[in-house]
Amino acid sequence: MNRPRSIVILTGAGISAESGIDTFRAGANGGPSLWEQHRVEDVATPEAFARDPDLVLRFYDMRRAAIQTKEPNAAHRALARLEREWAGPVTVVTQNVDDLHERGGSHAVIHMHGEHLSAWCTACDVRTRWTGALIDRPACPACGARALRPDIVWFGEIPYRMDAIQTLLADADLFVSIGTSGAVYPAAGFVRLARELGAQTLELNLERSQGSAWFDQTRLGPASEIVTAWVDELLG
Ligand code: APR
Repeated sequence: MNRPRSIVILTGAGISAESGIDTFRAGANGGPSLWEQHRVEDVATPEAFARDPDLVLRFYDMRRAAIQTKEPNAAHRALARLEREWAGPVTVVTQNVDDLHERGGSHAVIHMHGEHLSAWCTACDVRTRWTGALIDRPACPACGARALRPDIVWFGEIPYRMDAIQTLLADADLFVSIGTSGAVYPAAGFVRLARELGAQTLELNLERSQGSAWFDQTRLGPASEIVTAWVDELLG
């Protein structure tokens, strides 16, 4: 590959799998994936929240509590090192709603599917950092309304910061996808967009994904090993 300057990295659940966070679809850790344990329609749509808010709030309260017991792994830390030491811009666009990139040391992170550690007030539209539960309908610190929901992009909702992501993809010399099955759009389409706009493309994943054919190169293995090796290679 030619030496790139600006690097955009899309990450998915696979990068957090070795930290002990379940992936959404089969293919990691041997155990059942999240969407094998819960129906998407029951917990991850606006309709589900309207129909049975307690079920949805409990589900996200459990997930929010769980991620706070997990630690970043070598792959998160390697991307932070790349951001620190690379001469050009390095941005992580993540589909993950955990905070392991930040705790691993990355600063330029876009959470396109929202964040567990944020609550969104549907009354005043203010987002507040949130580590506790939402099931008891706590008051919004900004307006006092008891109208907080998880700040998560559910199926049927529009991912965050799409304009900024398009601009990043247009400027990218290298687009790298790590630990994502390529099953969910629009993220699954980023590789094609980046290619069309002139970037080289690299996939790092445990197994071939639905989008593998679109990448110039695919390297297979656990993220903690192959991401670290790739960063070592880039930084020489
Ligand atoms: N290292 C690298 N890749 C891994 C590892 C690992 N240790 N473990 C699993 N993977 C790979 C799997 O092979 C799979 O291709 O990570 C991918 C995880 O895929 P998904 O579970 O589908 O997760 P993701 O692609 O992030 O899902 C996208 O779907 O339900 C929604 O909103 C949710 O953001 C999520 C979106």
